[in-house]
Amino acid sequence: MNQLLQEEVEKRRTFAIISHPDAGKTTITEQFLLVGGVIREKGTVQGRGRNSAGFATSDWMEVEQQRGISVTSSVMQVDYQGHRVNIVDTPGHDDFSEDTYRTLMAVDAAVMVVDSTEGIEPQTKKLFEVVSRRGIPVFTFINKLDRDGRFPLELVEELEEVLGIDAYPMNWPMGMGSHLLGLYDLYNDRLELRGKEGDERFVPLDGNGEAQGDHDFKTSTVYSDAMEDAQLLSIAGNEFDRERIDNGKLTPVFFGSALTGFGVETFFDAFVELAPCPSAMEDVNGELIQATDEKLTGFVFKIQANMNPAHRDRIAFARIVSGQFEKGKTVTLSRTKRSLRLAHTTQFMADERENVQTAYAGDIIGLFDTGNFQIGDTIYEGNHYVEFPALPEFTPEMFVKVTPKNVMRQKSFHTGMEQLVQEGAIQLYRTYHGNEYLLGAIGQLQFEVFEHRLLHEYKAEVTMEPLGSKVTRWIDPEDMNPRMSSSRNILAKDRFDQPVILFENEFAMNWFEDRWPDVKLHKLM
Ligand code: G4P
Repeated sequence: MNQLLQEEVEKRRTFAIISHPDAGKTTITEQFLLVGGVIREKGTVQGRGRNSAGFATSDWMEVEQQRGISVTSSVMQVDYQGHRVNIVDTPGHDDFSEDTYRTLMAVDAAVMVVDSTEGIEPQTKKLFEVVSRRGIPVFTFINKLDRDGRFPLELVEELEEVLGIDAYPMNWPMGMGSHLLGLYDLYNDRLELRGKEGDERFVPLDGNGEAQGDHDFKTSTVYSDAMEDAQLLSIAGNEFDRERIDNGKLTPVFFGSALTGFGVETFFDAFVELAPCPSAMEDVNGELIQATDEKLTGFVFKIQANMNPAHRDRIAFARIVSGQFEKGKTVTLSRTKRSLRLAHTTQFMADERENVQTAYAGDIIGLFDTGNFQIGDTIYEGNHYVEFPALPEFTPEMFVKVTPKNVMRQKSFHTGMEQLVQEGAIQLYRTYHGNEYLLGAIGQLQFEVFEHRLLHEYKAEVTMEPLGSKVTRWIDPEDMNPRMSSSRNILAKDRFDQPVILFENEFAMNWFEDRWPDVKLHKLM
């Protein structure tokens, strides 16, 4: 066993944050960068997300600057408590896309940020569903404790009911908003007091769960209520079970305030302690590729084109599964069996690109690409063939009909469309009758990005006719029958020529199922 590889792998924690917009994902990411010393001031990351001025030095896509939001996800690396932490950002506003989902295929754990004033919101639920299918650990941070939010018990109950996961409160708020006294920390057997610095903020608990020593707050109701709740939880609540945390059946729940930083370090400390390091991954032949195997392997989970509009460059984001990446290493691309030299690589730190020299399992590298890579591609070093399973495709929810405006530019329209579809943020369909082009996506913004890029990068102007949201189902090719066509569905083919039906809504789908009981409808993830 290579000692260095072992140590590097054990150090790594690779995760994504899942949350609804405005729950505090950016703020908590920023706290991680602050405690890890990557940034010195607050506001750095928020500038990236929200105002275009903070973006001026980087050459991200124009549309991203215009909209002032983060369209594309990036990766940040932080050293914290002896760990190398990779935070893989998931786009979370209207820019929600397949990329957001696919990012979750490249991480070993998820942090779920919940706004204590809102509870479980729709986008959190959607992302959680993808994560829970992977069976990876989910750590919950209930945020905005400095505001008057909902009752903690109610929030935890909602989490369990809406998401179907068991919760284990690691700490419990003593009050909230302006009455926030601190946290009753069940995991560390201590209180964490608000408004105190350093170790002064901690008060150890005695054997009865009471704060040790004389303190004025001991007569307060927020203290006694929290203690009562904690006792109730220890009798009636779930048990702390490491195995159930590891396979995503039990989520450790933390309370805090990302904005003020209260409770954040306690959360990070437990997170790096409990979150898993990169583990083995099975390839399509059933072989287990260990994270500590000497040979480099990895897979591409995201491709992003033209980050610098001056060049037609693309960046393929690859998650390293095993071995050691070094700049200039030669690998084989499984799909084409061609060898490639990984000469140009990049990594994203806050708002600047850095060149990576060495990386290990769990790390994400950006490979400069001239059109070699596709989403889901495996790369491996040496002669032993490795191929990781294909990444899931996700069922699109919104559709537009797209037609080129200028027939003279048909060729660039087709080239642009093909390349952008290959990046995987958008899916292409043709109608069964008429061969018209339809685009499907998970988030509305993808259409705007698509239109903009087609125009600016391929000089192809298009008309987009919104078709609204659809319920998309695949059918077996032998079941296809033109008579299935109705005013409430569209018969189409996907880009692999597989038949698809786009239903107006669930009702139209149910009606179809009654009418065509023998036709099996399939859904992607
Ligand atoms: P997101 O990335 O999940 O979309 O959320 P983000 O961190 O951008 O936070 C959304 C808003 O919530 C921001 O306010 C942010 O300051 C605020 N926020 C985050 N964490 C906390 C917290 O612990 N307590 C309180 N009270 N607020 C919090 P904003 O007004 O939209 O933006 P800004 O003007 O502060 O930048």
